[in-house]
Amino acid sequence: MKYASIDSSLFIENRNKFKQLMKPGSAAIFVSNDIMPTNADGSMGFRQSSDLFYLTGVDQEDTILFVFPDVKDGKHKEILFIKETNEHIAIWEGAKLNKAEANAVSGIEQVYWHHEFDKIVKPFLFQAEYLYLNQNEHTRQYIETETAEKRFNKQLMHKYNLHKIERSAPIMQRIRSIKSAHEIDLIQQACDITEKGFRRLLSFVKPGVWEYEIEAELIHEFTKNRSRGFAYSPIIASGFNACVLHYIENNQQCKSGEVILLDVAAEYANYASDLTRCLPVNGRFTKRQKEVYNAVLRVFRGASQLLLPGNTFEKYNKAVGELMTEELLQLGLLKTEDVKNQNPAWPAFKKYFMHGTSHFLGLDVHDVGFFYEPMQAGMVFTVEPGIYIREENLGIRLENNFLVTASSQLDLMKNIPIEADEIEALMNP
Ligand code: GLY
Ligand code: MN
Ligand code: MN
Repeated sequence: MKYASIDSSLFIENRNKFKQLMKPGSAAIFVSNDIMPTNADGSMGFRQSSDLFYLTGVDQEDTILFVFPDVKDGKHKEILFIKETNEHIAIWEGAKLNKAEANAVSGIEQVYWHHEFDKIVKPFLFQAEYLYLNQNEHTRQYIETETAEKRFNKQLMHKYNLHKIERSAPIMQRIRSIKSAHEIDLIQQACDITEKGFRRLLSFVKPGVWEYEIEAELIHEFTKNRSRGFAYSPIIASGFNACVLHYIENNQQCKSGEVILLDVAAEYANYASDLTRCLPVNGRFTKRQKEVYNAVLRVFRGASQLLLPGNTFEKYNKAVGELMTEELLQLGLLKTEDVKNQNPAWPAFKKYFMHGTSHFLGLDVHDVGFFYEPMQAGMVFTVEPGIYIREENLGIRLENNFLVTASSQLDLMKNIPIEADEIEALMNP
């Protein structure tokens, strides 16, 4: 891991939050992610299960967390199982955490080797009435690959088939959606690294530059600042490519007169940031480009002020739709009749702004949280309106990350230039 060590108090607090929402007499088990294979003897870079990381801070494979607040011996309320280290692993991969290190990272006193799991937990599970098992229940995940956690859950449900099974995911989604000061600091660090990367681009983007060269500039800056890299696949989309919402080829040459949309951001210590900016490739927006840019900026500003405790997503999305409709009318992209005759289920503005305005942000870029409950202080959201005009080869999106506070909201990316005039001035020093 490249990031600086994190105080174990974060993970101790997180476990306490989980325990408070468990039923009495219950145990919970969380499992780390697999190292995913590529081909031959290759593997992908390791990415920890966000839930296991949130509860332990342990960032390696073959890790299991066992939590049983009401355990009779009082000593094994929390047990961490980690991969056994040996000389072979130390020589080839560098040492994995030893027991003392795992204790220091997580704050868990009882640390055993992974292969001891069955023997150690069996007597404790006999005492438990309920068994909480976890899995990825993100409402937008459609992944067929079986996770290590799901595989392990199947074994547990077979071995302990008379226990009453409970789902951990609703508790995890609830507690992860409200960020602690410590987490906000880590997200802010990710945003600050993103800012460094973006500022580097202001003098780098020129006619003739290739999209992948921009990607290379960013990864250099992110890695230099202790990030593992991009928080998600970067979208570096010049001209028409900006209208392809999930464009990730990043293989075209940027031409004078085009605008380039950059949806690019760093992770730090597994926490994501999520930025979008649009730059004129030759350093100056045309009048039309600036009109569209400023329209998006006004919607961005209007929307962000609506991130308030107590507001609902139903009201928020409706208000943002109205702001966007007004801008599209002003730009001549919609006519009054289009709006008058619109289908309420797919309003007219959706022709040019077809994605959502906000999502939760945290350990995952599309983080967990309940969209059907009111916003609360401590939640972190993106705001990312856009206007995509395919017939003009122009796509503009602006995106920052906001913390909802007790009475307002805080822009975690407030130092990243966003005004069209400021962008032009920085590109033409
Ligand atoms: N970069 C992914 C998103 O904006 O949602
Ligand atoms: Mn986003
Ligand atoms: Mn984004």
